[in-house]
Order: sequence, then structure tokens, then C-alpha cells
Amino acid sequence: MLYDFKIQKTLSPKQKPDPEALKFGRMFTDHMFIMEYSTENDWHDGRIVPYGPIPLDPAAASLHYSQQNFEGLKAYNTPDGRILLFRPYKNAARVNTTNERMCIPQLPEDLFVGAIKALVSLDRDWIPDKPGTSLYIRPFIIADDAFLGVHPAEHFKFIIILSPVGPYYDTPGGGLQPTSILVEDEYIRAAPGGTGAAKVGGNYAGSLKAQQKAKDLGCDQVMWLDAIEHSFVEEIGTSNAFFVIDDEVITPPLLGTILPGVTRDSVIALLQKWGVKVSERKIRIEDVAKAIEDGSLTEIFATGTAAVISPVGKLVIKDKSLVIRNGQVGELAQRMYDTLSGIQTGTAPDNMGWTVEV
Ligand code: COI
Repeated sequence: MLYDFKIQKTLSPKQKPDPEALKFGRMFTDHMFIMEYSTENDWHDGRIVPYGPIPLDPAAASLHYSQQNFEGLKAYNTPDGRILLFRPYKNAARVNTTNERMCIPQLPEDLFVGAIKALVSLDRDWIPDKPGTSLYIRPFIIADDAFLGVHPAEHFKFIIILSPVGPYYDTPGGGLQPTSILVEDEYIRAAPGGTGAAKVGGNYAGSLKAQQKAKDLGCDQVMWLDAIEHSFVEEIGTSNAFFVIDDEVITPPLLGTILPGVTRDSVIALLQKWGVKVSERKIRIEDVAKAIEDGSLTEIFATGTAAVISPVGKLVIKDKSLVIRNGQVGELAQRMYDTLSGIQTGTAPDNMGWTVEV
């Protein structure tokens, strides 16, 4: 279905950022998409307007009880002048599994992707070209009923904003730089039956304390363990985790407490295509530590839209620091990064049928 959104163009376009100095998520483009939902009128009044603050009732349910969600995907310029989105229908499907968990109404997938295409197309000059950069797309839904009782809202806003981005981690040199990760054994991210598999802000608010602790100890991020035994690996910061041990690549299974990452799914599919043994199974942190020490573990990397492929160079477990591959980028992480980036930016053929043109 084709959507015809009203467009109000900005009268004062902003200056574009220096592509050499792009960080993650600090600048926003000239326009944003906004649409309302009410139980009487369903999703309606989708429009593109100049980027700026939105009026919100101070009693809005999302501000008090976090009834909201968000997504993340990217747009890329190709050398032959096309604009590509990477697997946007996967994000569209995830919005709706999140919405189901959060009592937010379903959003038609074509509406989600159509709104993204319309906005990206209008702000196309903001897509940076430099390798390792892209236009990050942040769709989100917030409940805006002005009511302080705790109940599912009847009014929502669906908004999309765009941000030209460089690498997620501020590691020196940017790009594919190995990170150091603190294994978090006190705080947890999600418990069975909770919202760990939903993409909601609350999961991230609850992670800040541990992230701050990691920073204080000189690490870039945390590795989350399960809520019950504090033993099985769940995720790495805002990304999914992969371990290369002997000839097997292991990633924790989707059992409701970890995010079903689009990059995670893509990495598994590529590994299978390459004939690499990949297993979605539980893995204990003590087995990871043993495998690093006996040399059978050769790589750990994290995957995510923002983080892309992020190799782990050091794991801090209590008072032990375990260095992986002398802190160098692993071969599989590098090959995966090159392959994914090639498909995403149209510099390599997309044999998987993952890209969607704007
Ligand atoms: C993404 O990778 O798109 C995410 O949503 C992580 C984000 C919290 C930066």
C-alpha cells in the first residue's frame, strides 16, 4: 500500500555535520515523521514536519510508566546512487511483537516501512558516504494518554527521527576496534517473563547503573548474565553475543530474555551459508573463561544495528582480566563486518535479498 503523507518542509535547513567527525546519535536531520493513534480513529494523520520538540502532556503515560517502544535501523548510500535500507521488515515485525507485550496497538508493517522511506527520501542529503558511517533511523511509539492511573493507554504517537552516525563506540580510531567488556554479576538486564525480548526503553534505563560501573572500571560495556543463576551469558551491552570456540560459533538462544537482533539473525544466516557450524545454545561464563585460558576460544564479538560487528578484545570477570587474540580483531569478525557492510552499502551483491531500496 502507498501512503501519501503530508510534508511541511523546514524553512531553516541545518548545517550538515563534518563526515570525518561523526559520532553516534548526536545530530538530527531537518525533518521528522509523526502520526497519532486513538482507539476511535486508529493510526491517522501521518505527516512529515520540521525536526523539533513535540508538545506532550506532562501526565502522558509514557513519561510515568514507560509504555513505549523504539527501533533502530540504518540507511546507506550506494556508489551507484541508490539508497538502501537493511531488512526494514524485520524491524517492522519486531515493533509488533514489542507492541503485543506492551499493550500498544499493532502498526501495519507497510505503514512503518512507508513512513521510513518517505522521511529518508526527503532527508537523503543527510546520508553520509564515508565508510563506517550511515543514517541511523530511530522509529518509536509513546503512549500519550494524560492519565495517572496504570492501565493500557488509548492514545499514542508514532515518531521517526534520523541521525547521521559514525561508530557506536568512542574507541580511539573508531571503526572495528576491539572493546573491553565487564562481565556483570550483580545487576541483571532481564528475567524470564519480563520484557527482555521487547525493544523498550525501560530495559536500557535499567542497564545504566551497570554500564556506569563498567566505565568506572575502564571497560566499554557489560556482558549480561542470566537473572537466576548469574551464570549463562545473555547479551553484550546493547548487542547480541557470539563466541568462536574450536570450530563452532555459539550464540545464546532466544528464550524471552534477550533481544532478537536483526544483525544477530543476519550473522547466523551468513555463517550457515558459509558452512560454519553455528549453534544457538546456552553458554556459561565459566566455560567461556576456561576456553579463553586454554586457547580454544579464538573470538568473541557483539552484533547490533548500532554496533554492527564489535569484536571483544578483553573480558573482565571479577578481578581477572582475560585478553582475547592479544586484543586484535578476529578473522571471522572482520569477514562478517566486511560482508555485512558490503551488502548494506551496495558495494557487494545482496545474494540474501536483504536490502530494500528507498
Ligand atoms: C541498535 O543497535 O539499533 C540499538 O537499538 C541499540 C541502541 C540502544 C543504541
